[in-house]
Amino acid sequence: MEVVIQPTAEAATMVAVRLLAGLIRQKPDAVLGLATGATPLRLYWELAALKLDWRRIKTFNLDEYVGVGPEHPQSYHSFMWKNLFNRVNIAKPNVHIPDGLAKDIPGFCKKYEKQIRTAGGIDLQLLGIGTDGHIGFNEPSSSLASRTRINMLTRQTRRDNARFFGSEERVPHHAITMGIGTILESRHCVLLAFGKRKARAVAEAIEGPVTAMHPASALQLHPKVTVFLDEPAAAELKLKHYYRRVYDYKPDWQKERPMRLLHSSILVVL
Ligand code: PGA
Repeated sequence: MEVVIQPTAEAATMVAVRLLAGLIRQKPDAVLGLATGATPLRLYWELAALKLDWRRIKTFNLDEYVGVGPEHPQSYHSFMWKNLFNRVNIAKPNVHIPDGLAKDIPGFCKKYEKQIRTAGGIDLQLLGIGTDGHIGFNEPSSSLASRTRINMLTRQTRRDNARFFGSEERVPHHAITMGIGTILESRHCVLLAFGKRKARAVAEAIEGPVTAMHPASALQLHPKVTVFLDEPAAAELKLKHYYRRVYDYKPDWQKERPMRLLHSSILVVL
């Protein structure tokens, strides 16, 4: 696992932007796994500002709330179109986001897994992390072999996401999410975490035991994971100085350097 610690969320985002932009340039038909939430917002805006060619890019989103239609302002459909897809030249049929209104949820989930396989698998899966250690909406106790399915949100996740819905009561109880097994099949997992409130979850994911009680710890089983952190999110890592040295001493050809900020006036709420 590579842990890249930058002084600010902005700087960490810009290294991640370079990584993603590099993939899109090198592989114009890449399959991207995408995440939602406050964490990747700036990354999407910056990536879109680069005006890359997205015509052959395919995307699969991690999750969607159950009972929330695509037009709902808090749906992950709305989030993705507003913050990324409407800003790039992606072809609509190449966008895949779980259907929160699916009548036959198990059938839908099976089809979603098949669509990922048919697309050739995910080249790069972007991930955030919940304060309870979730990735996607794989909450603590999710099987490390789980596939795309319906899952129930923990109280903590609903509380964390109340800021988007205005109150905790309005946050849906269920979501459709790619499973941990699905995520681990991606060829490269890229996790972003910013802010002090993520520090504990990040330390447990990277340095704690691999356990279903902390779903992000499953990433330790994956051969290619890059974690981008700002200083506050890295605060509880025991080997923080080692990770920093690993990054600083990397040969130039191996290093992702930050991109110049294009969206300097953006305020990201963490
Ligand atoms: P956040 O959510 O980016 O809004 O903090 C991350 C997550 O819950 O995975």
